[in-house]
Amino acid sequence: MILQKSIQEVVEAAKIEEVVGDFVNLRRRGVNLAGLCPFHHEKTPSFYVSPAKNIFKCFGCARGGTPVQFVMEHENLSFPDAIRYLARKYKIELEETEVSTEALEEQQLVESLYLVNQFAFQFFQDQLFLTDKGKTIGLAYFKHRGFREETIRTFGLGFAPESGDALTRLAIEKGYSIDLLRSLGLCSSSDRDFFRNRVMFPIHNLSGKVIAFAGRIMNKDPKAPKYINSPETDIYQKSKVLFGAFQAKTAIRREDSCILVEGYTDVISLHQNGIENVVASSGTSLTTGQIRLIKRFTNNLTILYDGDQAGVRAALRGLDLALEEDMYVRVVMLPDGEDPDSFVQKAGRDDFSDFIKNNAQDIIQLEAGLLLRQSANDPTKRAEMIGHIAHSISRVKNPIRRDEYIRNVRELLQVDEGKLVLEINRILQKEVEKFSQRKELDPSGALAGGEAGNLQETVPVSDKYVTSEFGDGYLEKDIARLLITAGNKRFDPAEEVSVAEYVLLNIEDVLAEFDHPLYKQVVENVFQLVMDKKEVSLEFFLHHPVDDIRQLAINVSTSPYEYSENWEKRHDIGLSQSLPEENHRNDAENLIKRFKLRKIRRFKERNARKMNDLFQANGPEEEIQACMQLHLTLKEIENQLARELGTVVLK
Ligand code: CTP
Ligand code: MN
Repeated sequence: MILQKSIQEVVEAAKIEEVVGDFVNLRRRGVNLAGLCPFHHEKTPSFYVSPAKNIFKCFGCARGGTPVQFVMEHENLSFPDAIRYLARKYKIELEETEVSTEALEEQQLVESLYLVNQFAFQFFQDQLFLTDKGKTIGLAYFKHRGFREETIRTFGLGFAPESGDALTRLAIEKGYSIDLLRSLGLCSSSDRDFFRNRVMFPIHNLSGKVIAFAGRIMNKDPKAPKYINSPETDIYQKSKVLFGAFQAKTAIRREDSCILVEGYTDVISLHQNGIENVVASSGTSLTTGQIRLIKRFTNNLTILYDGDQAGVRAALRGLDLALEEDMYVRVVMLPDGEDPDSFVQKAGRDDFSDFIKNNAQDIIQLEAGLLLRQSANDPTKRAEMIGHIAHSISRVKNPIRRDEYIRNVRELLQVDEGKLVLEINRILQKEVEKFSQRKELDPSGALAGGEAGNLQETVPVSDKYVTSEFGDGYLEKDIARLLITAGNKRFDPAEEVSVAEYVLLNIEDVLAEFDHPLYKQVVENVFQLVMDKKEVSLEFFLHHPVDDIRQLAINVSTSPYEYSENWEKRHDIGLSQSLPEENHRNDAENLIKRFKLRKIRRFKERNARKMNDLFQANGPEEEIQACMQLHLTLKEIENQLARELGTVVLK
């Protein structure tokens, strides 16, 4: 339990604009700040923050309250956890007594919910495979749908018998609590089974625990619902779950792409046909929580819709949400009357994949095409349409991707109606101007804030390429170059230390992170030379036993000017400054900072992944805390380095 005085301290430290600012891009409006509400979807800001009163208020969804309430609501945390969150943010050390009994009880409750579900899961499977009814009705149904036994086992499909209380009775016999069965929706208040005479689809969380069930009716009965589903519980929040995610996550990572379908049977059928990176939204429209779930594994999302008008409309609804999360979304309309299940069974894996490849539409192209058709001869509508598309594009955070969208839309509109190009240019230009103004007004990111902010990262383009395309080879080569050509020079005329010593001192801790074996070897050699108190000389490398290193030494020592030019271009060093060859101190410091920044970012990503995994697996609280602490520390170092390098990091 957190001591009252610690709570007080946190409550006093938490500034509403800072707390909200981590999630919402806030802009000044009079004495207040305004932005898009993070709790409900909206196009114009109705979400206000009053620094003076230290509260937030949304006039759209009527939510409002203190910084603590914001954190509770937004991060879905209990009061004590919200206090812990804020304490971390404000670096306040909390005084706590032993773990509260509530927390323990909550944890135990969650564990026992999993246990009961696991029991039911086994029960439904046993019914399917081991009983006569299960085999002749349930298994026969799945076989009739073309599901192989292996597939049925992969997804843990089962069968709920017709008898009124078989599951409930057995559960009680085995000592499971009737209250838990009820709260999981497995039995009714009169102790009858909830799922009866249905084939069962278990829903897993990412770590493979069963969190809910869906039961499908096997015959056509217009009076009964096709599916019935478990209610929401502490372990099942519909809006954050995707069916099949557990079975798909490895494939999603591997393919760096995720396919989203509507139905359970679509997922299973595609999986059986060798397309494993597929999940289902289970008939509801996509939520931010679900998009974030996918985003842990990939940025590329392909949504398959049945070929009808309802599908198109559903696609458009998901548009802004996915763009805001910086996902690269494509949409595929299946041929008339087909759903993914029927289509893959008909076409087979290869034709199905080809169809997707050839018919995937960029979601903005799709929108532009649709709206264009609707407003062909109506100038007012046309203007509206352009505004809408420009608005959509302005929501894309990643500048490179945004340009790509702009180009795409331009192309599309040029084809259809040349005149519109000018108009869209004008509006896009305005959006872009607005965007860059915001950037100028708020370079610190204090207002724009975290991941939900519109300006994510303003690292120079060249820097991006270094990470994304060439790994860290560029920087590593620079370090090798510096060590070979200037290792024995003094780091600074006023100091005793050599460039080699300085560089080694500062990259020792990240040496293991070198990607390129050649450059790594150079650094290791230099390390040895320094340790042995030998001179780090160009000659050493020019006469190195390893061919590649000799070649490298020749290259970096004979073409200094070519190199300097690159250096200037890449780091934007004005001509007034001395060239790197003459300015070892700057050269070395800059390089080390850049190198460390790369490594820190990588480290941070790795840590974040670990944290996610721990969360998913319900890992030990201390470990999660440690990850969070590390995350904050890394972020701090990252920010510090970035500041020193003159780049702004808002992430
Ligand atoms: N759904 C639901 N409840 C219903 C109908 C549908 O929860 N009464 C959800 C289910 O997640 C279902 C999805 O919406 O998987 C898509 O619906 P539909 O296409 O009707 O179901 P399929 O699973 O595709 O079933 P089938 O292929 O047998 O028609
Ligand atoms: Mn379907």
